[in-house]
Amino acid sequence: MKLGKNEALMRWRLTCISTIFVPAVKPSDPARHYDDDRIGKEDLMIEAGRHCASRNRVCAAHRGGLRDFWIVARTFLRHPSMVGSSFPASRRMVSHMFQSVDWNAIDLMVEYGPGAGAFTATALARLRSDARLLAIDTSPDFTQHLERALCGDPRLIVATGSASDVEAILAEQGLNRVDCILSGLPFSTLSEAEARLIIDASARLLRPSGSFLAYQMRTGIRPYLEARFDKVSHDYEWWNLPPCHLYRACLGESGVRHGR
Ligand SMILES: C[S@@+](CC[C@H](N)C(=O)[O-])C[C@H]1O[C@@H](n2cnc3c(N)ncnc32)[C@H](O)[C@@H]1O
Repeated sequence: MKLGKNEALMRWRLTCISTIFVPAVKPSDPARHYDDDRIGKEDLMIEAGRHCASRNRVCAAHRGGLRDFWIVARTFLRHPSMVGSSFPASRRMVSHMFQSVDWNAIDLMVEYGPGAGAFTATALARLRSDARLLAIDTSPDFTQHLERALCGDPRLIVATGSASDVEAILAEQGLNRVDCILSGLPFSTLSEAEARLIIDASARLLRPSGSFLAYQMRTGIRPYLEARFDKVSHDYEWWNLPPCHLYRACLGESGVRHGR
């Protein structure tokens, strides 16, 4: 289902109005991408900085929360149905979504639709130094921004393309089994065929112990998850513009499911 121009415009106005009433999201906080309940922001900046040419570059890249805001808003206005929201994810939502992740157990993580990189930067700050993160986005504006902002972290692979080609993109990198997939894709505006392709490929790629995480404004993804995964849990995050449904889907012990 595609968003009409009026609906997209209305949604954008609503999210702008909500900003005035929901001051919890602070796009100008330079360390907002490195929020963590257990570790201080400073430690996380240093941890991320280890993989960059210099710590100053990390700080410079994240000085501009406003830059993230601008790139998301601009791309949303150009492609409302592809981007789905005119605001970057809040740090509260990033923390909430990542609550259940066992970072030490991850060798390879894949992110669909990283946008301006709110989740990507936090994931890099928490992943092991020998883990990898593949981020796939259809928009070159976002992928170029990510490459600049995350200053050549050697663990990060950024690909411009569709999540439906994830298997081919991984194969090009000589990678195949994935421990965690995070999706920011607007499933309610994807075609049914594309949504199925993406969920089917994800279920094939995940290790039996792996998990598929998704944040969504609507609940359109749920039936796809329930058709392919054994366990689907749901939560909700209010402190985001707009508030989002959070899903976590897991395969059974063997990773094999009837009909797969
Ligand atoms: C809701 S936005 C993600 C926003 C991001 N979490 C942030 O905080 O900036 C959805 C993203 O999915 C991307 N996208 C849409 N369809 C896609 C597809 N088929 N494959 C990969 N990325 C896609 C859009 O370009 C956009 O960056």
